Amino acid sequence: MVKATIVGASGYMGGELLRLLVRHPGVEELIPTSRTYAGKPVSSLHRNLYRILDVPFVNPNIEDIDSEIVFFAAPESEWFAKIPNLLDKGVKVITLGGKFRIQDASLDSKIYPGYENQALLDERVYGLPELYRSKIKKARFVTNPGCYATSALLALLPMIKFKDSLDLNRLVVTSVSGTSGAGAKPSEFLHHPEACGTVKPYKVLFHRHLPEMEFILKDTFKKDLKLYFTPAVANMARGIMSFVTVFSEKLDVDLSDNFRNFYGKEPFVRIVYGGDENVPQLRDVVDTNFCDIGVNLDPVSGRILVLCALDNLIKGGSGQAVQNMNLMFDFKEVYGLDLIGGHP
Ligand SMILES: NC(=O)c1ccc[n+]([C@@H]2O[C@H](COP(=O)([O-])OP(=O)(O)OC[C@H]3O[C@@H](n4cnc5c(N)ncnc54)[C@H](OP(=O)(O)O)[C@@H]3O)[C@@H](O)[C@H]2O)c1
Repeated sequence: MVKATIVGASGYMGGELLRLLVRHPGVEELIPTSRTYAGKPVSSLHRNLYRILDVPFVNPNIEDIDSEIVFFAAPESEWFAKIPNLLDKGVKVITLGGKFRIQDASLDSKIYPGYENQALLDERVYGLPELYRSKIKKARFVTNPGCYATSALLALLPMIKFKDSLDLNRLVVTSVSGTSGAGAKPSEFLHHPEACGTVKPYKVLFHRHLPEMEFILKDTFKKDLKLYFTPAVANMARGIMSFVTVFSEKLDVDLSDNFRNFYGKEPFVRIVYGGDENVPQLRDVVDTNFCDIGVNLDPVSGRILVLCALDNLIKGGSGQAVQNMNLMFDFKEVYGLDLIGGHP
């Protein structure tokens, strides 16, 4: 059994971590931190946890953390420099922000400036279980992938078998996300009258998840490649649907079959198929740790369209972090994540 500290527990990601961990069979105690709500019951803010988790938030005193694991569900700040001390004390660390996801010091410091530490960057393991499960099991420090990056990577990784038949210089990813992707802090961009009844593309030529996607793909495919990524927010609270286009020389293979084989017995990646088109639905993954993928190949043009649906707050964040914790502590990988979406 472990004690788990959640730094940033008042945020959306922190709130979801509490929800997933409160009935986790391997977790005996949760320590939720908040600077703003210290002293107030968790359930006074996260109303879904009323009579389930009524303990008070505590101030984040990073030096005093003595739990077996700490989740940092907060933007990078002074706490980042304290990670080495925590690791020295035997505390395992999972960060949910972007710092150190890209294991290239110059690229990382360009996108996420501050808190440089080469030894820590060398040590970090990228927390995508479908790709790095064995490394995560041995890791002390895991950087959880970005929500968009999780979606694009899970859609593209099975293509590795066909990499020599693909145009790797034109990988095109368009993603539509729910508004919770921006966190709990209100903003004019996502103020209800501005975001309701519309789809708002943003950062259309450069979003900071783009280099993360390219870095992990290059590292995996062992090839140079170029990705074009455009995100948008839609009038929904949670979920990401990604449309991933890959151009190929004409492939004469059953891609669905290949994707199913690639993900084998993965507990949280489901390849949907059947009918004329293989199309996942957000509704089936929202509130779960599932990532549903449908792959479609146009035999005439060779265009491959992979559709990928996940919940940004769960498989795109807190659920994946819990999956990583399960691996790091040798718990069953599905502990805390046994969630099924509703229908309709
Ligand atoms: N939202 C998503 O879909 C998503 C997906 C993947 C990854 N992420 C990443 O996960 C992290 C959290 O995201 P979020 O959406 O949950 O953000 P959020 O809703 O804004 O919550 C972040 C929380 O961090 C706390 N915080 C801020 N600065 C802090 C500091 N210096 N020290 C300690 N705590 C601090 C704040 O709580 P107090 O002010 O109460 O202390 C705040 O509630 C971010 O790095 C984000 O990029 C988010």
